[in-house]
Amino acid sequence: MSKRKENALLFPPWPIWDEEDVRTLTSVLRSGNWWCGAPGDRAGENLWEFQQEFARFQEAKHCIAVANGTVAIETVLLALGVGLGDEVIVSDYTFVASASAVIAVNAVPIFCEIDPFTLVMDVGKVESLISSRTKAVIAVHLGGNPVAMDRLCELASIHGLRVIEDCAHAQGSRYRGKRVGSWGDAGTFSFQASKVLTAGEGGCIVCNDDTLAERIYCISDCGRRPGKYFYAHYEYGTNYRMSEFLAALLRSQLKKLPAQHEMRNKNARYLMRLLNGIDGIRVMKPTEGTDEMGYYVYPFLFSPSRFGGITKEELEKILNEAGIPIDDCYPPLHSLACFRDIQLRKGIDYTGANWGGDKSDDSFFPVVSDVYTRSIQLPHYVLLAGQKPLDYIADCIRKLRH
Ligand SMILES: Cc1ncc(COP(=O)(O)O)c(C=O)c1O
Repeated sequence: MSKRKENALLFPPWPIWDEEDVRTLTSVLRSGNWWCGAPGDRAGENLWEFQQEFARFQEAKHCIAVANGTVAIETVLLALGVGLGDEVIVSDYTFVASASAVIAVNAVPIFCEIDPFTLVMDVGKVESLISSRTKAVIAVHLGGNPVAMDRLCELASIHGLRVIEDCAHAQGSRYRGKRVGSWGDAGTFSFQASKVLTAGEGGCIVCNDDTLAERIYCISDCGRRPGKYFYAHYEYGTNYRMSEFLAALLRSQLKKLPAQHEMRNKNARYLMRLLNGIDGIRVMKPTEGTDEMGYYVYPFLFSPSRFGGITKEELEKILNEAGIPIDDCYPPLHSLACFRDIQLRKGIDYTGANWGGDKSDDSFFPVVSDVYTRSIQLPHYVLLAGQKPLDYIADCIRKLRH
């Protein structure tokens, strides 16, 4: 057996599924109720139950399930009235969906620098990006690490901005005693294949405001209102519904999440002690005030000079060869071709944006550009493997020190 194969066995596969998942999916198949139906009608029970169960897990009042995490953000933006000509501040270091959802509602994302230690939005830099057009801010809890939500919400309230939390990486993250998703107006989640709670695809929105929750539901289900005639469509809405199969699998997977979440947090602390003990390695620092983290990914930075001038690609290759799974980090949004070349929506004026053409030069985003060239990340499931494989990861990295 090759070294790579042998070590790969140290780490669990992802997703993890069992016979309960099989029974759950089979029972939906046999029931013939393959979609959720309307509230009140409830053709399938799983979606309605899942919404309540996930709201309970996230300690939020409402949960509205949708097709994926991208349309979850889009739906909230629409529900909050963000549209043509509005600006939305979003971290420069995130998956493209956090900003493409803004483009989808004809608004303009404005990219914010990150904190070099926590790797999430630097709240101290948000104020300088606020203009008369700013309508909202999207806080992305990268790797499950919460943005400093108390400071961000205070700033938002001073400037009359709406706050959306992109919690795609942050199932279970808790900041200053409160689960993420409940700090701002609404929080969005993704259940895409690599996420810590997954059904292959899927997403949802949590919020605590009854009126906003109803509006979000309405937009995600063709403009319908709960309890009203099925073919009455009250406002612009589209079909972003989640299927009953996804909801059923998510219910079954959600039962396993609390134990996995606890193990990830325990092992993450252990790995942090090991890696931070290596000269030239620095693990993403939990934001001050963080109680628990979702740990979708586990990023760390390295100083090339301490590792004989190695590049990130070389380090990734060596670790991969040693059987350690490494995830790609997101290239900063300002550097993506769609933003740099301004190949976006026809008829929308992006000239006021802080990106595009020369403005997309890395020199305007020095922190995130430096972080990107020196960081790699482990996927969350390595944190489910126990401590021996984590010792192995640290040993492999330690041996590369010069
Ligand atoms: C930070 C972030 N936001 C939003 C999304 C979009 O989620 P989905 O892939 O379910 O559309 C993702 C997906 O990876 C993400 O990482």
